[in-house]
Amino acid sequence: VASTFTLAQQSNLQAIECPFPEGQSVSSESECGKYSTCEWTDGRCHMVDNILGGYTVVGDAIPTARGYQVTLVKADSSATMFGGTVESLVFEVIYHESYHVQVKIYSADTQRYEVPWPLTLPDIPDTEQDYTVTVSEADTPFHFNVTRNSNGNFLFHSMGPLTYEDQFIQIHTKLASSYLYGFGENTHLSFRHKFQPRVTFPIFARDQPVGTEPMNEYGHHPYYMVMEDDDGNSHSVLLYNSNAMEYSTFQLDDGTPALTLRTIGGILDFHFFLGPSPEDLVSQYTGMVGRPTFPTYWSLGFHLSRWGYNSTDNVRAARERMKAMSIPQDGQTFDIDYMDTRRDFTYDPVNWGDLPDLIQELHNDNLKVTTILDPALVIDFDTYQPSARGKAADAFIKWMDSSLVPSDQEPEQISIWPETQDWWINEIKLFYETVKFDSLWIDMNEPANFGTNLDKPFNWPPGVDPWSLKCPDNKWDSPPYTTMMIYVGDNQSKKISDHSICMSSNQTDGTSVFLHYDVHSLYGISETEATFRALQEVFPNKRPTVLSRSTFPGSGRYAVHWLGDNSADWTQMHMSIIGMFDFNMFGMPMVGADVCGFFNEPDLEMCARWMELGAFYPFSRNHNTDGAQDQDPGVWPEVGLISRDVLTLRYKYIPYLYTLFHKSAMHGWSVVRPLLSVFPTDLISRDVDDQFLWGDGLMVAPVLTMGAVSRDVYFPEGEWYELVSGIKAATGPITNTVSAPLEVIPLFVRGGVILPYQEPSITTTESRQNPFGLTVALDNALNATGDVYRDDGESEENPISPYMSKFYYSQGKLDMDVKHGEEQVAGLFLDTINVYGHPSEPQSITLDTLPLDPSAWMYDAAYQVLTINIHAPLDVPFTLQIHWIWC
Ligand code: NOJ
Repeated sequence: VASTFTLAQQSNLQAIECPFPEGQSVSSESECGKYSTCEWTDGRCHMVDNILGGYTVVGDAIPTARGYQVTLVKADSSATMFGGTVESLVFEVIYHESYHVQVKIYSADTQRYEVPWPLTLPDIPDTEQDYTVTVSEADTPFHFNVTRNSNGNFLFHSMGPLTYEDQFIQIHTKLASSYLYGFGENTHLSFRHKFQPRVTFPIFARDQPVGTEPMNEYGHHPYYMVMEDDDGNSHSVLLYNSNAMEYSTFQLDDGTPALTLRTIGGILDFHFFLGPSPEDLVSQYTGMVGRPTFPTYWSLGFHLSRWGYNSTDNVRAARERMKAMSIPQDGQTFDIDYMDTRRDFTYDPVNWGDLPDLIQELHNDNLKVTTILDPALVIDFDTYQPSARGKAADAFIKWMDSSLVPSDQEPEQISIWPETQDWWINEIKLFYETVKFDSLWIDMNEPANFGTNLDKPFNWPPGVDPWSLKCPDNKWDSPPYTTMMIYVGDNQSKKISDHSICMSSNQTDGTSVFLHYDVHSLYGISETEATFRALQEVFPNKRPTVLSRSTFPGSGRYAVHWLGDNSADWTQMHMSIIGMFDFNMFGMPMVGADVCGFFNEPDLEMCARWMELGAFYPFSRNHNTDGAQDQDPGVWPEVGLISRDVLTLRYKYIPYLYTLFHKSAMHGWSVVRPLLSVFPTDLISRDVDDQFLWGDGLMVAPVLTMGAVSRDVYFPEGEWYELVSGIKAATGPITNTVSAPLEVIPLFVRGGVILPYQEPSITTTESRQNPFGLTVALDNALNATGDVYRDDGESEENPISPYMSKFYYSQGKLDMDVKHGEEQVAGLFLDTINVYGHPSEPQSITLDTLPLDPSAWMYDAAYQVLTINIHAPLDVPFTLQIHWIWC
């Protein structure tokens, strides 16, 4: 049904600042006066009223097959911000699922660029909608609202004028609350966004190390969530646009939180999701952009990496340190120093000459190997076959005149930019013939140059014209509005192409030609998909592990992500938790930061604390930069011991983590969760970003402060037990100070949850053979539930069907309900059950009605922990009954 509404009086326009210059505040009346849509009042440059600045609705809304459309015309075509006004627009509402509606605003006359990356949308919309989209009625200024039907909460309430120009689109909305989260990839200092003073963050893929300013980083995720009310109703919004953009928070004069969204190309293409819970939103969003890839079992182990091993012997030395201290490890990574003069698909014949032998040694230890690939390919058509084959396949990005676009990504050599998937896949297959990697790491794919627009590019070969990396002056490389991105981070020449390819270069997907200006942020996802397909060809029926730096909505289908070049810094350690929350929202739950920091050198204390935190990153990898001191955990004996213990604990609970990842791949749910995802009605939880959960059961409260030996932990409602000892830690909601000497990371299990585990060894291959156990944490009604999923850990289609069991504990009775896949666990046993919060000593325990010998259990009355030893085959359901006297 086409819906219109009469516009309420629009007030507070003074709060909507004009965007000149590029996200900064305008400081003078004369600067403000350059724009006919801006006015200087009360010392501020703000948007003028709707009629002048915006659009008018023309005629009534027209129903379409799955929604409706209205036409909008510019109210006053002389009112412009940057010129190129699109005079006539179509506002279109497209119904999808009951919880999902799309709203597009596009030119009525010209085909503008739209993101070509496909989304999964239903062929037929649901018959019921949980929302209503209303638009202002004919002949009134254009605004639109999206409302939740069940309670009238608004999701979007546009206000002020819409600006729609060729290279500048801007829209403002009130927000239902100030509980705003998401957007990326940015350096967020808090998970919840701040409004006062307003903050502007740019979004555009950029090789930008992590810092503390609001910077645009490696990925492009114009996606946010708002928790609307105290009942926990939440919605999320994707602005599906790949051009350079920015978002800006602000408050209206009456304190109402609001948001400005700006982009410098494409169209406005919104997707609204209604949740209502934060977890529903992740599921609904990934239903559209793609469910997260299901990581291989080994990749949940610990990875060791660094840039600058510089030789196979140094890798062996680091590996020996790990072995000597029995520190668990599953992955060994090789950075660009393994390559022969930075050429992809080669290895250094001198310092890495025995790389194939080293890989074999690592494989013998049950480790897997990840090798890096940079996208830019060194030009040497004579002696470097990948480059010659690429030329023959016409595989590189070109200027409009068809000459190749150069890159200084690799020092003292000129490179060119691949864009052809088939050639890339073929090169990976050929590389595997000599280097038996298990997974691939794709870096620098924002795509990243070092010296674009500089007088002298970075490490440019002598004698080559330095102008060749300077971008031309045209509307794409020097757009009238650049967004905040040029003011933050390392932007040498204040151009949007800095550190990257010129915006006016051309790219093709084999069918259409695009401007880099439009598809810049898609470079990463395109390379990721091709790399994923290559690994599928190299390892048929195996799930690929691709680690990508640049990401876009949908990258989670193909890749895992690390949070880029951080520093050994306590604030950045904290920010890594926020980064994990963001990427779990974006549908990339397999995420982590460089443990112990990439730049700068950590001291013993910082590296110990970071190893503790990193043991609970889904993607757990210690990595650092070239030239820095080694920081693998074995370097400091004390860090080594702490790492051994905390990683052993991680390995113990990998069956739980893997089960969470299976649910994530199936349903899109997150793996690492902020407290607000599990306790959406708990208002305190909404501001907690220095604690996190694995699923809804295991809470991690790392120490993030130098010198601290305790920390405050917020315990939401319910019972909480210390994970390791089982002692009751708190009955929430409450904040308690907990002790945390250097060797301790506070970890808690939530009452009501059963965590499956397996006795840990130093690799997942070995751990997978060990006996299982259950950590049963009771709620105040003495109940708990859990489940475990298991397959062969690597197959796309498992030759033996996967195993799943559910566990139900209720007042002394534990049932294991085998759902499917008995064959998968043949020969594996459940040996230990630890019940936390058990009220008193059992009198007897029966397993399937047979009494257990009393020596089979141990009760610690002080801790209220009951440990029961059984030896039950995992493939046979059982019932365990504990009898005790109720006090
Ligand atoms: C940049 C990456 O972010 C970093 O992790 C890597 O070590 C260097 N490139 C060298 O490959």
